[in-house]
Amino acid sequence: MLVTSKAFRTLTVFVCMLVLVTLWQIPLNHFQSLSPPAFHGHDLTAKVDWSRFAYTQYVTNTAYLCNSVMLFETLNRLGSRADRLIMYPAEFSAQDDSVEAKLLRKARDEYGVKLAPIEVQSRNTADTTWANSYTKLLAFNQTQYDRVLSLDSDSTILQAMDELFLLPPCAVALPRAYWLNFDDRVMSSQVMLVQPSAAEFRRIEQSIAAAGSNVYDMEIVNDLYRDSALILPHRPYDLLTGEFRSKNHTAYLGNSLEPWDPVEILREAKFLHFSDWPVPKPWIEAPETVIAENKPECDVDPQTGRYDDCRARDIWLGLYDDFARRRQGVCDMAVSTKGLAVRQDTVKHLWTWL
Ligand SMILES: *[C@@H]1O[C@H](CO)[C@@H](O)[C@H](O)[C@H]1NC(C)=O
Ligand SMILES: *[C@@H]1O[C@H](CO)[C@@H](O)[C@H](O)[C@H]1NC(C)=O
Repeated sequence: MLVTSKAFRTLTVFVCMLVLVTLWQIPLNHFQSLSPPAFHGHDLTAKVDWSRFAYTQYVTNTAYLCNSVMLFETLNRLGSRADRLIMYPAEFSAQDDSVEAKLLRKARDEYGVKLAPIEVQSRNTADTTWANSYTKLLAFNQTQYDRVLSLDSDSTILQAMDELFLLPPCAVALPRAYWLNFDDRVMSSQVMLVQPSAAEFRRIEQSIAAAGSNVYDMEIVNDLYRDSALILPHRPYDLLTGEFRSKNHTAYLGNSLEPWDPVEILREAKFLHFSDWPVPKPWIEAPETVIAENKPECDVDPQTGRYDDCRARDIWLGLYDDFARRRQGVCDMAVSTKGLAVRQDTVKHLWTWL
């Protein structure tokens, strides 16, 4: 019969080989044209268009405006390539002689920051610290960008984070709040990579409208993206200053075997958030007793057997002192560091370690 004939089998093999050889020669981009359009940050062969990405800050008052300008000064100094965008209350003028106007102009002219006036999103929540926190979520509305990286401004940037803009597409990427009960898998909105979109912003607006009095930006983001967010490693993208005071570093390190080395952890970290309750935020003068009672203790130095390893304490004091110096330099605003009792060489140490 024909099907079993030797000639037919030979012909079949020949045809199959011909098809394979032809397929092999179809250029790869023929198949690429069948897939969805490439996400800008994801096409590894294309030159990255950094103007599609931006670091964003939101500002609700003068102290936070200074914090944000300080972060932009750092990004500029570190040579970060993405755009910089500040969302500030439309009531602030960028023209007059006010402190706010001078800071906004400095951000624009010296650090290449784009100015976006916005309406502060506040609600009558019990705690005023958080009352304006919904404003952060306006990052989802910055649809002139493919991606924005929102960073809480009560922080220090230790290394640029441009690589985050090139992550695989996702509505939101953010780290876990490693300092909370890990089993709850709470995500932290201190560092939040967002793909702005009209559809996502509509969902956000609906959540804000429906939010009860104890619901803040972090709850909204956790609610909406619990099962779809891309999780960023909190190490090195979200380190709390309080980690240098802690006696248990397992959660931050992510394992219980690795020895804690404060200098290595500082070198590795890219973003450091000031969180040291009851020590106040670094632009607020701290009473000497509060610092004395809460600063990190020195650790045992295995060489001497005595409490001689004071690196964690010096890093911690140095970070607060560094913040105060930059606040003076960038914003011309003073913070008294009397309570820090910083030794003359602490800050020098800090930057040698980095
Ligand atoms: C969101 O963005 C649109 C377009 O830029 C703007 O018209 C609107 O006012 C923004 N919404 C808020 C709440 O800022
Ligand atoms: C340290 O923290 C981890 C979880 O973060 C916990 O499992 C462990 O029991 C703690 N160790 C001590 C000595 O408290």
